[in-house]
Amino acid sequence: MNSFIGSSIGRKIAMSISAIFLMIFLLQHLAINITSVFSPKLFNFLSHFMGTNPLVQFIAQPILIFGVIFHFLMGIFLEINNKKATISHYEKNTAKDNSSWMSRNMILSGLVILAFFILHFYDFWIPEMSHKYIHFLPEDPHRYYDELTHKFENIFRVIFYCISFILLSLHLLHGFNSSLKSLGANKIYLKPIKTIGFIYSIFVPFGFCFIAIYHHLNIH
Ligand code: HEM
Repeated sequence: MNSFIGSSIGRKIAMSISAIFLMIFLLQHLAINITSVFSPKLFNFLSHFMGTNPLVQFIAQPILIFGVIFHFLMGIFLEINNKKATISHYEKNTAKDNSSWMSRNMILSGLVILAFFILHFYDFWIPEMSHKYIHFLPEDPHRYYDELTHKFENIFRVIFYCISFILLSLHLLHGFNSSLKSLGANKIYLKPIKTIGFIYSIFVPFGFCFIAIYHHLNIH
């Protein structure tokens, strides 16, 4: 296992597996949060279920947090290694001609997403953990909707969230295809993967933007 992660191909495969895992999480996260736009009742029900189900809380959630941390640390590590490998000026110049802006700036978009994560955890995850596991407050199945909408009162938070979602879109536009290619996707599937990747990378971040702006405009 150590020698697998120690090899550069092993690290790339591990990075791709964590990326695909996070993309699946993102889809379910959007599916739950979008319900807050059309049915506060359904949103409260789903959030209460996710927030109190022991399988979600004590198995899925720790795996997710591990996946997030792993993806960030491995991304930074791979970037440092790539930088060391492309020391020649010639390679740097030709890279510009052969690759997209997104692929050359994965670390930049990744770092903005990391900054978003820190704010996002401070906004939602830390209050949630402190409610349940530090203060042991009584569970109220109706609290989730108000807690969510309250966060989007602040226009600066909405702007920062939306900028992060645009960078998330750029990150996914390269990351979706790249992760499947690294896992050896067959050449005949490359075209449909590109199309699905494009739809996913635009649709998912747009959905999150829509939620933030919608709640900002609908604060009572
Ligand atoms: C408007 C957009 C978003 C809203 C309204 C939102 C809402 C929430 C809420 C309410 C929680 C707390 C869940 C809980 O622990 O009970 C949460 C947690 C979390 N969010 Fe988001 N989120 C948004 C966008 C995102 C995006 C774009 C990402 C990833 C890039 C993300 C990643 C996470 C993670 C990793 C957690 C902690 C894991 C968990 O406990 O479910 N969120 N989010």
